[in-house]
Amino acid sequence: MCGIVGYIGRRDATPVLLEGLRSLEYRGYDSAGLAVVYRNKLHVTKTAGRVQDLRDRLSDNTNGKTNGKTNGKTNGKTNAKATVGIGHTRWATHGEPNETNAHPHTDTAGRIAVVHNGIIENAEQLRDQLADQGVKLASDTDTEALAHLIAAEAGEGVTLEEAVRRALRHVEGTYGLVVLDILHQNELVVARNGSPLVLGIGDGEMFVASDVAALVRHTKQVVYLGDGEVATVRAADYRTVSRPTTVDAEAGDYELGAFADFMRKEIHEQPEALRRALRGRLDDRFSTARLGGINLDPRQLRSIRQVKFLGCGSAYYAGQMGAVLVEELARIPAGAEPASEFRYRNPVVDPDTLYVAVSQSGETLDTLMAVQELRRKGGQVIGAVNVVGSAIGRECGTGVFLHAGPEIAVASTKALTNMAASFAMLALLLGRVRDMSAAAGQRIVSGLRALPHQIELMLAGEDEIAEIARRFAAAEHMFFIGRVRGWPVAREGAQKLKEVSYVHAEAYQASELKHGPLALINATMPSVVLVPADELLAKNISTIEQIKARGGPVIAVTSADLPADLADATIRIPRAEPELEPLLLNVPLQLLAYHIAAKLGRDIDKPRNLAKSVTVE
Ligand code: G6P
Repeated sequence: MCGIVGYIGRRDATPVLLEGLRSLEYRGYDSAGLAVVYRNKLHVTKTAGRVQDLRDRLSDNTNGKTNGKTNGKTNGKTNAKATVGIGHTRWATHGEPNETNAHPHTDTAGRIAVVHNGIIENAEQLRDQLADQGVKLASDTDTEALAHLIAAEAGEGVTLEEAVRRALRHVEGTYGLVVLDILHQNELVVARNGSPLVLGIGDGEMFVASDVAALVRHTKQVVYLGDGEVATVRAADYRTVSRPTTVDAEAGDYELGAFADFMRKEIHEQPEALRRALRGRLDDRFSTARLGGINLDPRQLRSIRQVKFLGCGSAYYAGQMGAVLVEELARIPAGAEPASEFRYRNPVVDPDTLYVAVSQSGETLDTLMAVQELRRKGGQVIGAVNVVGSAIGRECGTGVFLHAGPEIAVASTKALTNMAASFAMLALLLGRVRDMSAAAGQRIVSGLRALPHQIELMLAGEDEIAEIARRFAAAEHMFFIGRVRGWPVAREGAQKLKEVSYVHAEAYQASELKHGPLALINATMPSVVLVPADELLAKNISTIEQIKARGGPVIAVTSADLPADLADATIRIPRAEPELEPLLLNVPLQLLAYHIAAKLGRDIDKPRNLAKSVTVE
């Protein structure tokens, strides 16, 4: 959601913080700010907009164009160097995304600055209490209350860490926060409850961030703070309960390289990402999958009577793909549900059901809360998570890591593919401890192994898809039609188009068309119809004919040899094992959404109003 950075060391903190914020901008991007200390004063600079706007504002300041917005001196030629500071990029929850509400927030005296991710649930009450005590609140945010609370506790002889601990006793909600105090310039205090926070350990310098994306360029040694931890960080030392680990990512994973945007880069990374997800997990000897992380022996696997996938957005649609796979391959009843719905409807938690919490980031609050609800009720829950060390991964304890590598674009592509592939392996494993034959198992093992190259073949045909995208980019609405295996893919395809191009799209099961939506079909309503070469081929062909008969343009995505001129545009995909075909069908839909968005000039990696990981309700 929002991004946090902090630095303490010998370097000039401002460029370090700005660079960190830039690498976190994908998480949230409606305003940004930073606070540094030099000459014993807190200097806060904030702006609505993006990190580049903040950079511009700071350079205006140092060039002497004062705008009255910083707390400190803005004389042109100052070479004063701040060696400690904190920064934030925001995605608004409490209060409009304007300059006043941007972080850092300070107390009245301008002594303490705070950046915060998460949400303070009793903020209204705290703000009222502060107002009653005569504190003038400058912003509409929950975070500002924290700054005042900490200042009130930061009396004589009290360490900053102790003041933060005391202040947090009044607070209900989630937070990852970093606190800077001009009276304790040689330290930063960090605290975490629910929202991620990572320390980066340098040589005589320390970094703090809400995401390793901001750290990897400086260090691979990190500490993922645990929930409930409050710690003091100094340039040369830190004390945490959690232990340091080495991050398995390169700075290049977070850079665009030759690509214009991350979404296209990540689409093209899919063959390699998928190979990583499959590596070491396909077992030819027993024609099954090896998923050590789920930690269930064959007897336990056999006692599972139902599988339920929980996630949000694309992770939910991936879960739906997983449910189809589990039913087909393992013949176990399976379903998927948005994690938020699940947690709010007082779910019946069945001890014989395996619950799978699905999340790229491992941070989505609704999914995390669903996991906590499940654990409280004694449910058996495993994670399917991409980010190692994330809250959902830790909370589940066991599960399948997705190994997709860092995903930066808001629209999920490679993580979703790896989710679906992981669920195919889970389904295979569950099937093979039951009645699935070795021959049937081997068919899936080989089918999975073939997928990365098949995706490469599809990516090589990108230009044709881009051309189709350009032809249809003027459409104001689109239908995505699939059935059974194709249905979750259609939903994900519609979601992708909406997210990145802002074109209204709806997904329907092919069989449902005639029960209502057919009324909307005309020459201005293109339909993307998924036509796998499976036992439903004839039915899907007749769906296309129904749409054509009403004058609706059709884009067919197919592994079959369709009659010439059946559709207005045809995207051919390789033929996979039928159960695995959804993984291939999804890729052209990613490219279609991407190229329509590109044609419309959208900000593809940072769609309006969205954030990469939603750590609030
Ligand atoms: C946000 C993103 C979606 C994503 C969803 C779940 O809404 O915009 O692209 O699918 O969160 O994220 P997760 O990290 O839990 O997979």
